[in-house]
Amino acid sequence: MKAVVVRASGELDVVDAPEPAPGPDQVLVDIDAIGVGYVDVMARRGEYPYFPGAGSVPGLEVVGRVTSAGPDVPGASDGQRVLALPSFGGYAEKAVADADRVLPAPPGIDAADVVGLGVNALVAESVLDRAGAAPGERVLIRGAGGGIGVLATQIAAARGGEVTVVTSSAARGERLRALGAARVVDRTGSALPDETYDVIVDTVAGPDMGKHLELLRPNGRYVLCGAAGGAPGPESFEPLLSRFHTSPTLIAFSLNSVTPEDLRTSWARVLTMLEEGRLSPVLDRSFPLTEAEAALRLVESGKPFGKVVLNPR
Ligand SMILES: NC(=O)c1ccc[n+]([C@@H]2O[C@H](COP(=O)([O-])OP(=O)(O)OC[C@H]3O[C@@H](n4cnc5c(N)ncnc54)[C@H](OP(=O)(O)O)[C@@H]3O)[C@@H](O)[C@H]2O)c1
Repeated sequence: MKAVVVRASGELDVVDAPEPAPGPDQVLVDIDAIGVGYVDVMARRGEYPYFPGAGSVPGLEVVGRVTSAGPDVPGASDGQRVLALPSFGGYAEKAVADADRVLPAPPGIDAADVVGLGVNALVAESVLDRAGAAPGERVLIRGAGGGIGVLATQIAAARGGEVTVVTSSAARGERLRALGAARVVDRTGSALPDETYDVIVDTVAGPDMGKHLELLRPNGRYVLCGAAGGAPGPESFEPLLSRFHTSPTLIAFSLNSVTPEDLRTSWARVLTMLEEGRLSPVLDRSFPLTEAEAALRLVESGKPFGKVVLNPR
């Protein structure tokens, strides 16, 4: 099969690779669409500790059909259409994933659209649920035009929140208004948001995280779920202590530690919102698998609005 590997130099190579064999509790998926995420950028740079390194295949989310399963996977039916979250190995025509990281793909929706929800919708739904975002609360989304951000904006609005987005241009702001944002803050100006918030979803972190932590209202919840702007320094967390009297909550969230049950519950909520028309995938661009390099560079640029997808066919 065709697969894309990361070389020691960080370059990507398209190679002929043996088809992976599922372990006892895994399934093999014949892939129709592959999600490209910022984690893949970090993996290729050697900045993601769980990526096995040179010679390995990146890619943490694929949509396709189950073609075989290990003996310990009950009820895996041949041809079942799924969203699978492999522990890397997704930039290929086939990949294996643990059966408890495989979710049903809804019928009648393109594979690219399902992967456009994928990991990003699971993160966005889970963080707003963990933060307990309630109707009428003010919610701020950082990195709103990104893969997670466009979905978090919609889900926060669907939960009845009054949503403010931080983004990098007026044009992105207009697109985010169409997805449910009530207010737009352009981060290319010097101004920070001038309100305070009950919930802040941060996919960016970086040097400005502390300034955003200061925007929490009393009893507010700050969810840190990404670092597209770089790792936050220890000083970023100082407002938690200096604003102790306001009872702030910091929630750090990674999909890696979500239980299989919580993963299924979150995905079921995502699909319900999709069916009800309160959530839709936002795709930026699709590339053939052989152009994975260009796809990864686009994600690295921070310019996509929504999701970048690879097509293995
Ligand atoms: N917690 C988890 O389980 C989990 C799962 C998947 C990914 N992640 C992480 O979440 C983060 C976002 O992922 P993503 O797929 O949404 O990435 P993405 O599509 O690249 O979006 C990130 C967005 O952040 C904004 N941004 C980028 N650089 C910035 C900077 N220097 N300062 C301020 N804003 C900046 C941009 O949005 P605007 O132009 O609109 O501001 C960009 O579109 C990544 O760090 C990724 O590794 C976490």
